[in-house]
Amino acid sequence: MKDLDSLKSEMIQKLMAADSLVDIEQLRIELLGKKGQVQALMKKMRDLSNEERPLFGAKVNEIKNEIDTYISNRVQELMKVEIEKKLASEKIDITLPEKSFKYGNQHPLTIMSEAICELFESMGYAVEEGPEVELDLYNFERANIPENHPAREMQDTFFVDVERLLRTHTTAIQTRVLEEQKDQLPIRVICPGKTYRRDEDDATHSHQFIQIEGLLIDENIKMTDLKGTLEVLAQNLFGEDQRIRLRPSYFQFTEPSVEVDVTCFNCKGSGCNVCKESGWIELLGAGMVHPHVLEMAGIDSEKYSGFAFGIGVDRAVMLKYGVSDIRSLYTNDTRLLAMFDRFD
Ligand code: PHE
Repeated sequence: MKDLDSLKSEMIQKLMAADSLVDIEQLRIELLGKKGQVQALMKKMRDLSNEERPLFGAKVNEIKNEIDTYISNRVQELMKVEIEKKLASEKIDITLPEKSFKYGNQHPLTIMSEAICELFESMGYAVEEGPEVELDLYNFERANIPENHPAREMQDTFFVDVERLLRTHTTAIQTRVLEEQKDQLPIRVICPGKTYRRDEDDATHSHQFIQIEGLLIDENIKMTDLKGTLEVLAQNLFGEDQRIRLRPSYFQFTEPSVEVDVTCFNCKGSGCNVCKESGWIELLGAGMVHPHVLEMAGIDSEKYSGFAFGIGVDRAVMLKYGVSDIRSLYTNDTRLLAMFDRFD
């Protein structure tokens, strides 16, 4: 019995030395487990006399219970310590300043595209879009640029296969709309979209850019209607005092064709470095839709006529906001984009 007492205090001492949950668990197995020390004592009972056995048994049971109680108390204690440690390390300091959250803003190309589309919508035009991977048919053939026409050279692009390509202008949407709406005349549409050309990228050229095509087809549409419409556009974009100037030009799908200049918004026409001292800035290409383009789409060119124009949105943004390199519109540098927060 003496031995049992010293064994017990030995066990308690071991337990007192353990100061982690892992150590305690290990000791629990060692002392109370199936192959543990207490179990070994139980086995010894077989060798005892009938008188000794109950006393010994009671004592071993007492040890077992004591150890058991000790362990569960210690586990409780250690768990509490661990939770407190965790709470202390995960403490939220509510006095810290908040992390600032920045709202983004629209890209200048989006701002410009939407402004132009909204203006034309207010004049009764409908917004129409088309595929960026376009058929040769709508991009070139129906725009009066047949196979092997030299004009294709200036609008070289990526061909996905022999008949599909990345569209080179939004005139491809125009020729689609002409065909689709040939029985619902008049047609009044404004068509924004990405366009692609094989260009060496530099300050004023990008292999991808954005155009907006305008198209109006009805009876008795004249060049003066085009001029008046473009004047409204120029004044809306650059100010009430804007004037426009038409210069003769050439496109395969319009006849006659014009290049349209606007009064230099910087010098108001007196001449400066923005307009290369001319007082005018070139804004877009336009013209009266070629009768053959109407006929190819199935529209009677004797009865109907109309105008079309194509604005380079990148160019309009660069002019309006003084962006000198077109590439900065495509690098998504948020420092540049954030500046457009200040414009409507
Ligand atoms: N598609 C022409 C271009 O990309 C622009 C244009 C459109 C000219 C409509 C006239 C009429 O250069």
